Amino acid sequence: MCGIIGIVGTHSVQERLIDSLKRLEYRGYDSAGVAGVTDGRVVRRRAAGKIRALEDVLAESPLEATVGIGHTRWATHGAPTTRNAHPQEAGRVTLVHNGIIENYAELREALKARGRTFESDTDTEVIASLIDFELSSGKPPLEALKAALDQLTGAYAIGVLIDGEDSLVMGARKGSPLVVGYGDGEMFIGSDALAVGPFTSRIAYLEEGDYVAIDHNQAQIFNEAGHRVERDVRQVPASAALVEKGNYRHFMEKEIHDQPDACQHTLSAYIDPTTGKVTAPGGVDLAAVTRIQIVACGTASYAGAIGRYLFESLAGLPCDVEVASEFRYRQPAMTPGTLAIAVSQSGETADTLAALRWCKAQGLMTAAVVNVHESTMAREADVLFPTHAGPEIGVASTKAFTSQVAALIALAVAAAAARGRIDAVEEARISKLLMEAPRLIAEATQLEDDIRALAPDLARARDILYLGRGAMYPLALEGALKLKEISYIHAEGYAAGELKHGPIALIEEATPVIVIAPTDPLFEKTLSNMSEVAARGGPIVLITDAQGARHAPPGARVIVGPSCDPLLAPLVYAPPIQLLAYYVAVQKGADVDQPRNLAKSVTVE
Ligand code: M6R
Repeated sequence: MCGIIGIVGTHSVQERLIDSLKRLEYRGYDSAGVAGVTDGRVVRRRAAGKIRALEDVLAESPLEATVGIGHTRWATHGAPTTRNAHPQEAGRVTLVHNGIIENYAELREALKARGRTFESDTDTEVIASLIDFELSSGKPPLEALKAALDQLTGAYAIGVLIDGEDSLVMGARKGSPLVVGYGDGEMFIGSDALAVGPFTSRIAYLEEGDYVAIDHNQAQIFNEAGHRVERDVRQVPASAALVEKGNYRHFMEKEIHDQPDACQHTLSAYIDPTTGKVTAPGGVDLAAVTRIQIVACGTASYAGAIGRYLFESLAGLPCDVEVASEFRYRQPAMTPGTLAIAVSQSGETADTLAALRWCKAQGLMTAAVVNVHESTMAREADVLFPTHAGPEIGVASTKAFTSQVAALIALAVAAAAARGRIDAVEEARISKLLMEAPRLIAEATQLEDDIRALAPDLARARDILYLGRGAMYPLALEGALKLKEISYIHAEGYAAGELKHGPIALIEEATPVIVIAPTDPLFEKTLSNMSEVAARGGPIVLITDAQGARHAPPGARVIVGPSCDPLLAPLVYAPPIQLLAYYVAVQKGADVDQPRNLAKSVTVE
C-alpha cells in the first residue's frame, strides 16, 4: 500500500507535496519521490528511505513547479532503492502507483519486443511505458490513459503527469482508493481524504474503474466503460479525514471495500513478487518449528482455523487452533518446538493476551499476527507477523479478518518452502497466485447489488444456517458470527457434512441455509448436503462460482462470485458473506457500526 498525491496548483507545490506525503507515510515509507512540471517539462526527485531523505534531495535541488505528483512507497516489485522509487518515467509519461499489476511481466515483454527499454524492476514503469506507447501512436492523453488501463490486470491507483501538458494531472483507480479534492482555482488527487486534507475539505471519492483528468478548475471523471460521470462532492473536515466513511454509509461497508488494499499491503510484508520468495518476518526459522498452536477470539479464531488447513495441507505442520478463553485455563500439553501464534486485530484482547503470555511462560516461541503494531501483543510476542489492514473502526471485523487470513496463508507457504514441502518453482507459482487476491477480492465486492437483493427475505428469518466444507467451514462460522453480531438474527455455522448428524432437524421453510461452496475438490460432497436441505424444503442461498452455479438445486438463489484457486477462496468469498450480513442489518435498521452489547476491543475477561 503506497500513498499518492497530485496537485494542479497556482503556487509552488513542493512543500505541499511533502506535507501530504508525510500524512501518507502510514501507507508505506521505504522510498519517496515527487515530480513537477517546470517550463513545460516534467522533472522528478526521488530518494530511498523515509521522506526526510527526499527533503534532503529537495534542499539541494528544489522542484520549481505549480503542478506535481508525489508518492511514498511500500515496495512490492523491486527493492526499496532510488531507482525503483516512484515517480517512474517512460518517454513523456511520469507516474506514481499504488497496487499490483499482475500481468506486468507479460506486458513488459510485449513492450520490449516493440523496442522499449526499462530502468527499474517495478510493475509501475510498465504502466508508464504503456501510456507513453499509446501517446506515441497519436492518442490524446485521456485516450492513451484509457487504452493503457484496458490492458492492465490487477488492483491499482495511479497519478500521471505528461510532458508538454502544463496543467494536467490524470488519475485512475481499480481496487485501490483515489479521491479528488476541489480547491479554489486548484485541484487535487490523493490516496485518501487525509492526503488532500490540508488543501481542501471538498472531496469526491472515485468509484471502481473510474479515471480522471484534473486541471486548475475541474475534474473530468469517466467510468470504466469510458462514459463521463459525476461523483458526489462532499464536505470532509480535515481532522475527520483518517477515520472518514467516504462515499459509504457505514464504516463496515467502507472497510469491506478496503479489503483489496488491506490484503495487498499485508501480502507485501511476506512476499517478494520479483523473486516469488515468501518469508516469515522477523527471521523466524520455520524449518525448526514442529507444531503450531494458534490462539485467538471470535473472528480472529476463524482466521486461525483457515490458517490451520493450510499449515497442515501445504506445510505438513501439525496445527491446533483454540479460542483463547478456553486455552488459557485448560493447562494444555505443549511440546517443545511449538510456535504459538496469537491472532488479533487489536493486539489487546484480554484472553488472547493471557494465552500468549501463558505460552511464553512455558518457554515456547511466540508470534503475534496483529494489526495494531504498537499493541501489547505486538510488543510482548517474540516476533510480530503484521497485518496491514489500516484502522478498522466498525465493530464487526472485516478487513482485519481477510488480512489475518492473507498473513496466515503466506506463513503457511513460507513454512512449506522452509520445510522443503514445495520447491522454488512451486513457491513462485503460489506467490503469483496470491498476488491475484486483491483483484479477485475487488471483483467479489462488486456482487453488492445481487447480495442487497437477498436482504429483505433474509431479514425476516428468525434462524439462519451457514454451511461450508474445508476452509469454507470456518468461513461459514464467520458468516454466522457476522450476521448475529450486527443483525441480531440467530445464525449457526456448520461443517456441511455434520448437517445430517443433528442440525438437519432445524430445516424447514422458514430457515434459510447459506451454502458457501466455490468449486473445489469437495464441491460434489457439499452438493449432496445441499440436496438434503432442498429435499426438506429449506430455502437455499448458494454462494459459488460460475461452474458451481450450474449445479445449483432448483429454486436456490445463487450468488456467482469470481472463479479462483481454492487457496484463495477464503479471501475471495469473505466479502460476499460480509456484505450479506451488512445488508440484512441495514434492512433491519440496526446500528451496523456499533451493534448492541459489543466492544471493538475486549480488554476484559
Ligand atoms: O482484536 P481481536 O482481533 O483480538 O478481537 C477478537 C474478537 O473480539 C473480534 O474478532 C470479534 O469477534 C469481532 N467483533 C467480530 O466481528
